[in-house]
Amino acid sequence: MANLIIINNEAVRAELPVDTPLLWLLRDHLDLTGTKYGCGTGLCGACTVHIDGQPARSCVTTIEAATGKEVITIEGLSKTGDHPVQKAWVDEDVPQCGYCQSGMIMTSVALLKAKPRPTDADIDTALAGHICRCGTYSRIRKAIHVAAAAMPPPAPPAPEPAPAAAPSKGRPAPRKAPAKGGDSKKGAKS
Ligand code: FES
Ligand code: FES
Repeated sequence: MANLIIINNEAVRAELPVDTPLLWLLRDHLDLTGTKYGCGTGLCGACTVHIDGQPARSCVTTIEAATGKEVITIEGLSKTGDHPVQKAWVDEDVPQCGYCQSGMIMTSVALLKAKPRPTDADIDTALAGHICRCGTYSRIRKAIHVAAAAMPPPAPPAPEPAPAAAPSKGRPAPRKAPAKGGDSKKGAKS
């Protein structure tokens, strides 16, 4: 039976053995070749996509594991390649050979969603499982800070709702204060 996966906002029926890696479906059957094949064993990060919003290695994710999930690849990040992270990558001239870069970008986008103003340590932790043979790490770090500055600031936390007023049980309504300078008794008699 075909397995339904939402890929870049389109429903795809994957008519492949369920243990086929998701990466094969993306590259060989859907021509989404922006996602790269590096090690094939989950160790280099080149094949990173988002699955239900989280970065995931598509070389070690089976069709079965992806069924019913939402997958976003580098092609689905933005229609015209103008996501703030992609723009920062261009502005900072990050890629060298480029092979690792779509995986780096996908993880960076997920990092900025979780931590809109990451520190260098946050960046290093998030990208720890990604390998760049060309050594572009310092430019990647800089581009992430540039993208963070270009993205809207994180929304402040929503205020706590005010506690509901306890219902008054038969209490008399508060009296109105008399008007300033007036004589309430006098007014009542006349
Ligand atoms: S190709 Fe998937 S982690 Fe290296
Ligand atoms: S830019 Fe060449 S491997 Fe990263």
